[in-house]
Amino acid sequence: MPNKIEKLRLEFGKALGEVKDQASLESVRVSFLGRKGGFLTEILRGLKDLGPEERRLIGAAANQFKGEIEARLAEAEKGLQDKPKATIDLTLPGPEIKIGHLHPITRVIQESVCFFEKMGFQTREGPEIETEWYNFDALNTPADHPARDMQDTFYLAPGILLRSHTSPVQIRTMEKEKPPVRIIAVGRVYRRDAQDASHSPVFHQLEVLMVEKGTHFTHLKGILTAFLEHIFPFSFKTRFTPSFFPFTEPSAEVSISCPVCREKGCSSCGHSGFLELLGCGMVHPNVLRNVGYKSKDLTGLAFGVGIERLAMIKYGIPDIRLFYENDVRFLRQF
Ligand code: PHE
Repeated sequence: MPNKIEKLRLEFGKALGEVKDQASLESVRVSFLGRKGGFLTEILRGLKDLGPEERRLIGAAANQFKGEIEARLAEAEKGLQDKPKATIDLTLPGPEIKIGHLHPITRVIQESVCFFEKMGFQTREGPEIETEWYNFDALNTPADHPARDMQDTFYLAPGILLRSHTSPVQIRTMEKEKPPVRIIAVGRVYRRDAQDASHSPVFHQLEVLMVEKGTHFTHLKGILTAFLEHIFPFSFKTRFTPSFFPFTEPSAEVSISCPVCREKGCSSCGHSGFLELLGCGMVHPNVLRNVGYKSKDLTGLAFGVGIERLAMIKYGIPDIRLFYENDVRFLRQF
C-alpha cells in the first residue's frame, strides 16, 4: 500500500507537469480527488477493510498525500492565473508581402512602345467606340467591300461600332497632323470571333504608321525586322508574303520561322515551318487622299500586330485565354 501511494505521487507529478490550462488542471484534480473513481478517493474508501494498525499507517500517508495534492493543485492554479494570456514575439519576421508585377501583355506593350520611342515615333490614342467612317470607309473599305467580313465586329448603333483594329488611329492622326507622321497606337480591339485557343473577341493591337516623302518598302522591312528582333529573344528568319488589305498597296503578311522546330514543321506552326505574325503594307493613296494629304510624292508605311500573338510566341504560351483568366499560377511565371 505505501508503494502504491508512492507510485501515485510520481504519476501526479507527471500529470501536473503537463498541465497547460484550467481544463487540463481540472482533469488532473478529478482523476486523483474525484468523488467517483479518483485514485486517492479509492484508497481512502478502502481503509475500512483494513486492520486497525494498517488503517492508521496508510490513512496517515494517504491524508498527507491528499493535503500535498491540494496544495500543489492550488499552486498550479495560481500559476495559470498569473500567466499572461497571449504573448507577442516581436522578434518573429513579419508576414511576407507579395509584390505584384506587370502582366505579360503589358510587358510586351511597354517593350514595343519603348522600341518605337527610340526610333522617333510618338504615341497616339483613339476611341474604342468608333464610327464606320474611321474603322472602314476612310481606310478604303466601303460598305460593300468583302474585307469588312473579315473584321466583323459589334455594332452599338447604326454606323457606330467597337473598333475592329487600331488602324482608325491612322486616320484620326493624319486628319489633325501634317506630314511627316511617325506614330504608333496601342489598344484594345474587338471582333465577332468565337473564343478558342488562338482567338478572343477582345484583344490588343499595336499600329505603326509612318508617312513622309521618300518612305518605301525597304523602310517597312527594316523597321519591322528590327522591331521583331527587339521583341523575340531567339534568332529567326522573317518572311514577307504578298497579301491584301484595302488600306495598303502593296500589302504583305509577315511570318517568322518557327522557333520550336526551326522550319522543319511541327504542331506549333501547323507543319509549315513559319508562324504568321502580322499585316503590313504601303499606305494606299486613297487613304492619303481621304485625310486631305495632297502632295503626290508622299508615301507611307503601316503595320498592325496583335500583342497577344507576340506574347504567345515570345513566351511559348499555347492558349490566348490564359492571358485573361487571372490565374496567379500562370501570371507568376513572368
Ligand atoms: N489593321 C489590319 C488588321 O487588323 C492590320 C494592318 C495594319 C495591315 C496596317 C496593314 C497595315 O488586320
